[in-house]
Formats: sequence, C-alpha cells, structure tokens
Amino acid sequence: MRVLVTGATGQLGFEVAGVFRRAGHNVITPDRRELDLLHPDHAATVVRNLQADWVINCAAYTQVDKAESEAETAFIVNRDTLKRLAQAVADYGGCLLQVSTDFIFDGKQHRPYLETDQPNPLSVYGRSKLEGEQAVLQVLPEAVVLRTAWVYGVRGHNFVKTMLRLAMAGKPLRVVDDQIGTPSWARDIAAAITSLVAGEAGGVFHFTNAGETSWHGFACAILEEAAQAGFDIKTEAVSPIPTSSYPTPAVRPAYSVLSTEKIRPLLDAPIANWRASLKNMLQELYTCADCW
Ligand SMILES: NC(=O)c1ccc[n+]([C@@H]2O[C@H](COP(=O)([O-])OP(=O)(O)OC[C@H]3O[C@@H](n4cnc5c(N)ncnc54)[C@H](OP(=O)(O)O)[C@@H]3O)[C@@H](O)[C@H]2O)c1
Repeated sequence: MRVLVTGATGQLGFEVAGVFRRAGHNVITPDRRELDLLHPDHAATVVRNLQADWVINCAAYTQVDKAESEAETAFIVNRDTLKRLAQAVADYGGCLLQVSTDFIFDGKQHRPYLETDQPNPLSVYGRSKLEGEQAVLQVLPEAVVLRTAWVYGVRGHNFVKTMLRLAMAGKPLRVVDDQIGTPSWARDIAAAITSLVAGEAGGVFHFTNAGETSWHGFACAILEEAAQAGFDIKTEAVSPIPTSSYPTPAVRPAYSVLSTEKIRPLLDAPIANWRASLKNMLQELYTCADCW
C-alpha cells in the first residue's frame, strides 16, 4: 500500500512513517519544502500527483500560544489547505486520516469526552483544528478524524524533553496542577492509526494512553521515570501551581480526558497506561544519541 505521511519531521509523523514502513508499506514523507500546507493549491497538487492509497495528515500548525497572534496562518494550515487536500484525495478515490486534538473541547466536563460531545474550543488553535475536522468530513465523509492529546515522542519538541533538560540542569520546576488530561506516546498513537487504517474505519475517534493526570503529575512522573532510566536528574521536586500563576496567551481546557471506548474494539492490543508508556519512551530516549 502507498501511504503519504505529512509532518514526518514532527513527533507523531515520525512514528507513523516508521510503523507503516516496518509493516512493509511504501511510505512517502514529503517535508515542508516539498508539501507546504501554507499554500493550498500547491499542497493539493502534490497530493493529487502522489495518488497515495492513504494520506495520514500529521502536519499541522501546532504552536498553541503563537496561534493567538497568527490566526490567519493557523487557519490556512489547519483548515483551508486541509479542505483542499481532502478534495484532492476524494477526486482520485483515496482515503484520508486527519489527526486532531482534545483542545476542540472547553474542558468544563467532569467525565471523559466522547466523540459525540459538543466541541467548544477556547483557543485559535482549537478552533482551527475543529474547523479542519469539519472541512475534511464535509468533503470526504468516510475520512477518519483521530483526536488525541498531550503528545510526546522521542523525536521533536515536547513537554517531556523540556522537563528533562531543566531537571538535568537542576532548575526549580513549577508546573500547573489544575489541568487534567492524558499524556500520550506518539508510538502508541501511531499503532492505533495502523489499526484504523487496516480496519478501514471511518468517522471520528479518540485515542490517548489510558488513565489521567495533571501536568504537575506528569512532570513528577517524568523526573521519577527518567532517574530510573539513568538520566542524571538534579531537581528534587516539582512545585504545583494553579493555571492562574502561569498565564499563557491561549486558554487551555481544564479537563480534556478523551474516552477511548469507541476505538478500543478496533485496536490490536489493550491501550497502555500513560505511565508505562512514559517509562518505555524514556528508556529509549536515554539510549538515543540523535533524538535531542
Ligand atoms: N503535540 C500535542 O500535544 C498534540 C495534542 C493533540 C493533538 N495533536 C495533533 O497531532 C498532530 C501531530 O502533532 P505533533 O505534536 O506531532 O506536531 P509537531 O511535532 O509540532 O510537528 C508538526 C509537523 O507539521 C509540520 N508542519 C507545520 N507547518 C507546516 C506547513 N506549513 N507545511 C508542511 N508541514 C508543516 C512540521 O514541519 P517542520 O518540521 O518543517 O516544522 C512538523 O513536521 C497535529 O495534528 C496536532 O494538532 C498534537
């Protein structure tokens, strides 16, 4: 099968390209110079010419805070170009999987969000991703939209690496403890994507690792698991702070745990707990010289 993976220089795209390659598929990974989502006509032409059986769109404008002042760019990349890509895929009869986010919800619920719960994004990024989902499904109703959350991986920039760098330098850490979600390893999300593709599923799905925690809980776990993996952690403790003490340009949902009930029967294996996956990722990161 011919699989086009966008965003392969990012955390998730890297893992998605890897898992399809290991399964023996013909994987094409154009970078931003070859397929620039800021240019809808160009991007649609590239996708149309490549004629992949599946297009897995892991590329996105992902800078949540910067999006507040760069709304036009965020909407072009996350909505307008996506609509054109979906149209191109529909025209030649291919399949499309679009990756989306927990930030389409407002976080006011107190139970895990179902795929059918009402979205209400609080930020420009969240709105651009939601309108991207809607644009895809309008053009290609059989497309897959996979929402995930709190992504980290061995490649790319993420919270895990930021905490590690600071903790190895012995810096004091203050992390918010009133935003709850589920840290999710890009490797596990990539495996879920292969299951959806193999099962020829369509529609909206949620996938994260199992369980939930706060950013503070996540940071504490990173330091503990990193020390066990062999990293030289010099920071002894992480101070919990409220979101009000760490203002950011974009408002984030206070609670964005996603229910994985719908996707579970389609997966090849039970969903790993977030902490078990964090442990595995840190062990791999410890031995990876070119992951930083
Ligand atoms: N990170 C999270 O916590 C999180 C949570 C929920 C959902 N998601 C979603 O998961 C998906 C993957 O996220 P990620 O964390 O893997 O993102 P990431 O590490 O920030 O990578 C983003 C990718 O998109 C590419 N990209 C950005 N702008 C582009 C453009 N104009 N044209 C072409 N490529 C462009 C980047 O290329 P360059 O390397 O050239 O910049 C990079 O390969 C996204 O849809 C995101 O919205 C992420």
